[in-house]
Amino acid sequence: SQYHIAVVVGSLRKDSYNRALAHALVSLAPPEFTFKYLEIGDLPLYNQDDDGNQAESVKRLKGEIAAAQGLLFVTPEYNRSIPGVLKNAIDHASRPYGQNAWAGKPAGVIGISIGTIGTAMAQQHLRNVLACLDVPTLGQPEAFLQMKDDMFDASGNIGEGSRAFLQKWIDRYTAWVKQHSA
Ligand code: FNR
Repeated sequence: SQYHIAVVVGSLRKDSYNRALAHALVSLAPPEFTFKYLEIGDLPLYNQDDDGNQAESVKRLKGEIAAAQGLLFVTPEYNRSIPGVLKNAIDHASRPYGQNAWAGKPAGVIGISIGTIGTAMAQQHLRNVLACLDVPTLGQPEAFLQMKDDMFDASGNIGEGSRAFLQKWIDRYTAWVKQHSA
């Protein structure tokens, strides 16, 4: 059978390393997996007053999450946490109360940064938020990546140095999503 994954990239930057990482990971996944990148850049700022009348962009986001068997979060670290745009998207799809679109969807958490801790604190913060939303997260392997010139090759694939490691990561993640769907 086919498995459909909703990908959430925590950066809106045009040349985002995290978006590049997401593309590279998707290309390493087995053929029975399909991926949809969720648009989070056009969401309004979350306002609880709008819970009864969610914007079209929010309804679209929630529909795309509902259609997915799994989630893949690929996010930068901003000031030792997740970017506000990502938290905004998470909050939107968690509401109104009792209609949390994220609940029960198995999620992979990964990221790449300029800094040496490779998004470790952002990932831990994200795991904390996801636990509250009843989203189980893949525990191991963890992946903390630092951007270096050889991280991606000219075609945007993972460079030699990290390819085997990230292949193992995506293999483990996809096997775990299958277990959840069984
Ligand atoms: C950063 N950056 C950063 N890096 C890091 O490792 N830890 C951090 O806490 C921060 N904090 C931070 C805050 C803000 C507001 C910005 C704009 C940047 C640097 C970050 O790793 C770098 O900008 C990446 O390129 C962001 O990921 P994308 O956009 O390339 O995917």
